[in-house]
Amino acid sequence: MPLVIAIDGPAASGKGTLARKLADHYGLPHLDTGLLYRAVAFALVEAGIDLGDHAAATRAAETLDSASLSDPRLRDRAMGEAASRVSSVPEVRAALLAWQRRFASDPSGAVLDGRDIGTVVCPAADVKLFITASALERARRRHRELAGRGEAATLEGILADIEARDARDSSRSAAPLKMADDAVQLDTTELDAAAAFAQARAIIERARLAVG
Ligand code: CDP
Ligand code: CDP
Repeated sequence: MPLVIAIDGPAASGKGTLARKLADHYGLPHLDTGLLYRAVAFALVEAGIDLGDHAAATRAAETLDSASLSDPRLRDRAMGEAASRVSSVPEVRAALLAWQRRFASDPSGAVLDGRDIGTVVCPAADVKLFITASALERARRRHRELAGRGEAATLEGILADIEARDARDSSRSAAPLKMADDAVQLDTTELDAAAAFAQARAIIERARLAVG
């Protein structure tokens, strides 16, 4: 029986870290869907095309190749913001939807993390987790992460970025960030990555027992 785990949540909530640990644990392929939107934005920036050019963003999404997803520059701070802009274009989302669904249809199942996995990409996922943490704690995490990569930024600047991105991702009309009705919420403000993983596993095991 395939096991599909959908993980959603706002920026720096720890969903990617958790998704990687769960994929490892259950031996499943993992897709960080934020990278797809980052890659579309990156393609435009590299070509000197304005992020507001919806036709160009749609073409970039339609021609996205998986090799481009491993570029470390996709993780730059500016790319999170740029990805959030192109991700509000419905045609971009439609082009990336088929890609994500193909990935999720692996015979063993898959772990996908993003903003709309439980609501749009995999509405029939076996388990849906919605990962949260306070905006300040998320800003602290991103700050540490960027410092580790040598990217200088103030905590206040990152907090402002995160709050602006949360607001844009939650208020857009195409697949906004919102918890699916049948998702389980996990607040990681006070949890480190290992504790979040332990709680997520307990939720998944309960869900699997419930379906027999
Ligand atoms: O790692 P972080 O949470 O900062 O960002 P990300 O997951 O890489 O996502 C970057 C941006 O892509 C988000 O702010 C969303 O606007 C968009 N995104 C989306 O719309 N839908 C997804 N399934 C994943 C990301
Ligand atoms: O994918 P998302 O943007 O939601 O967050 P992430 O990249 O998985 O995590 C952001 C940072 O927070 C990483 O450096 C993690 O090691 C750290 N962290 C975590 O992932 N989970 C916790 N419960 C606590 C910290």
